[in-house]
Amino acid sequence: MHIHNPRSNKRVIIVGGGVIGLGIGWQLAKAGCAVSIYERDQAGRAASWAAAGMLAPHAEVHFEERALLRLGVQSCRMYPEWVVELESDSQMSVGYRAEGTLIVGVDRDDARELGHLYESQQLLDLKVEWITGVEAREIEPLLSPKITAAIWSRDDHQVDNRAMVDALIRAYRNAHGILHENTPVEKIEVVNGKAEGIWVKGNLEEADVIVLAAGCWSNDIDGLPKAVQPPVRPVKGQMLALQMEEGIVLQKVIRAPRAKYPTDVYLVPKDNGRLVIGATNEEMDFDTRLTAGGLFELLRGTWEAVPGIYDLPVLETWTGLRPGSRDNAPILGETSVENLIMATGHYRNGILLTPVTAREIASLILTGENSETIAPFQLSRFS
Ligand code: FAD
Ligand code: GLY
Repeated sequence: MHIHNPRSNKRVIIVGGGVIGLGIGWQLAKAGCAVSIYERDQAGRAASWAAAGMLAPHAEVHFEERALLRLGVQSCRMYPEWVVELESDSQMSVGYRAEGTLIVGVDRDDARELGHLYESQQLLDLKVEWITGVEAREIEPLLSPKITAAIWSRDDHQVDNRAMVDALIRAYRNAHGILHENTPVEKIEVVNGKAEGIWVKGNLEEADVIVLAAGCWSNDIDGLPKAVQPPVRPVKGQMLALQMEEGIVLQKVIRAPRAKYPTDVYLVPKDNGRLVIGATNEEMDFDTRLTAGGLFELLRGTWEAVPGIYDLPVLETWTGLRPGSRDNAPILGETSVENLIMATGHYRNGILLTPVTAREIASLILTGENSETIAPFQLSRFS
């Protein structure tokens, strides 16, 4: 799907330079807008850098989140075209791999839990297959012989999110977008119900439209009336990466939900030999410390699913803060403050949802028209 938008010379300010702010900025700058992104630190180094890059609307589905499922499926289908456009505009590869995802049951309890997930996927009419452990090992030979059942989801893919951050920055700048790094937005200026600009370094910068895309910090910026402070909070994820070596090179994304343990794990092999492993899901406010227990759970789950990882060198450990909303779905579109647009709260799916968010928010700003796609995700659903 490609949205054809009119050209525009609107002045747009975007607060936050993660994948969401950069994606929207790139699309708007290409359409002729004068776009400035203000980023408090280095662009793309918060949740967007911490992520694993899974594009998993089917594997990560929750039965009661159907609107989110539809949005995720739509965005996942946009990925091939998005990648072609982004790689062409940036002249960089983003490591998109359309190779499917295996969801495995490590022990008997896990397999039973997997059965419930499969039932939900069937009721939602998703294209996934129930397979045996033997069949799973034909797809991914490094899986443990203990695995007796798996779900094979051919349509859940992955991208290298860090490469996508770098490509978005390059493509945005190539389109004449201006990126102000190390420049925190101190306040959004709202006068008589209308957003007029932002305060940075003690100066008021005016614009026709302000987009709030500050991830889990989106309700932490002065100036917003209470009614338009988005209900987002940080949800911590601990992660680590191993270096894959000859004989221990995974091809597919593996997910291993754990029934008895606090942390489900996933393994995401990247083109550059990194095996990204995640993630805890912790309500710890803005605490970003790694913990022994967190890393232990990740390593135990990973080793039980793929015993061959035991000798692989550890490359990196890190944490990230997901921007969680009250109903786990993003907050997109217009608000009761004129000229203030929200693009935040993408929680566990912000990499997946980048194309649909960028295209839909850009289209809203360029045409003034609200689409059916983002209508269910407006801030007003919480009031
Ligand atoms: P961020 O990347 O956090 O960017 C927000 C930016 O706003 C930051 O750079 C911040 O510095 C800036 N900012 C904040 N306040 C201000 C201010 N006052 N002024 C200026 N700038 C400001 N999603 C998937 O789809 N697939 C995955 O596999 C996946 N795995 C994940 C694993 C982990 C451990 C985590 C933490 C997240 C994962 N996610 C995944 C979710 C995804 O990373 C996020 O939903 C997405 O990155 C959100 O993007 P964002 O641009 O809104 O936020
Ligand atoms: N979507 C994977 C995560 O948030 O950990």
